[in-house]
Amino acid sequence: MTTTQPHADTQMLLRIARIQDAAEGIRSFELVQPDGTELPPFTPGSHIKVQVPNGLLRKYSLCNDPAERQRYVITVKRDAQGQGGSVSLCDEAREGDLIPVGLPDNAFPLVDNAKAFIFLAGGIGITPILSMIRSLGELSTAKWRLYYFARSPESTAFLEELQAPEFKGKVKIHHDFGDPAKAFDLWPVLERPSDSHIYCCGPRGLMEAVRDMSGHWPATKIHFESFNAGGEVRADDKPFDVVLNGSGQRFRVPVGETILNVLRQHGCNVPSSCESGTCGTCRTKLVAGEADHRDMVLMPEEMDHQVMICVSRARGAELVIEP
Ligand code: FES
Repeated sequence: MTTTQPHADTQMLLRIARIQDAAEGIRSFELVQPDGTELPPFTPGSHIKVQVPNGLLRKYSLCNDPAERQRYVITVKRDAQGQGGSVSLCDEAREGDLIPVGLPDNAFPLVDNAKAFIFLAGGIGITPILSMIRSLGELSTAKWRLYYFARSPESTAFLEELQAPEFKGKVKIHHDFGDPAKAFDLWPVLERPSDSHIYCCGPRGLMEAVRDMSGHWPATKIHFESFNAGGEVRADDKPFDVVLNGSGQRFRVPVGETILNVLRQHGCNVPSSCESGTCGTCRTKLVAGEADHRDMVLMPEEMDHQVMICVSRARGAELVIEP
């Protein structure tokens, strides 16, 4: 394994105890303390930052039961079109390697004392939701139902586990085989607001569909998490400048990099949590310039004056912000 300087966001060096194939192109990694002691606790929906063998820092949801204190389990989809983080982890990491890992953080927490949950998971977005389901266990009185969307049975992580008799009537798995005409119709699920809290994690298309169909639900009952990090690249992305109002400092934001990371690299400490445009922590005042909003947080009326700097970019040459 390549050894690189541990990133400042990684406080632990954990041993990869086990690597397993979870589905086609998807691998699970079990991480433990090298001395076998307990790991810092986490709550369902938490993620950890992992420094992968090529040095990139990536965020992965913990998918095991938070009651397990001896291990963290992350499940990673090898994305050949991505920035190289998942490919490095899936191809280069080996059992026995030591890997720098950050402390668990949660930008997608389960609401305490909720009566019911509707979980909507797309693809590898199942990972935080699996931890939630495992944490609810048999003792919880909360009712829940999971709708899990994937392309095919071969690409469905945890398929066998979720088809177990104990989940009968609670889990609906839908495969579209890449055909939009076979997409699951979410409207019957979302048509009538209820006591349930909705937790949705998956690709942008799923989250936008859920957001568009749940406008009549109380906003406090809809919870999103994206598994796409802020470094997601779109074909027409261009570099731009971010300018700090007041000091006039100007920094270049390259394609594949986020405003948040660029500010950090220049010593500006900006709070963040999910780093995927869903939690609202990095909300920043937009002073000038037109933003290309890519978050799931801002309301249309807020978009002219605010920007989520972990995911959003500029439509033009620059954005002036007040961090
Ligand atoms: S850090 Fe969560 S929205 Fe930016």
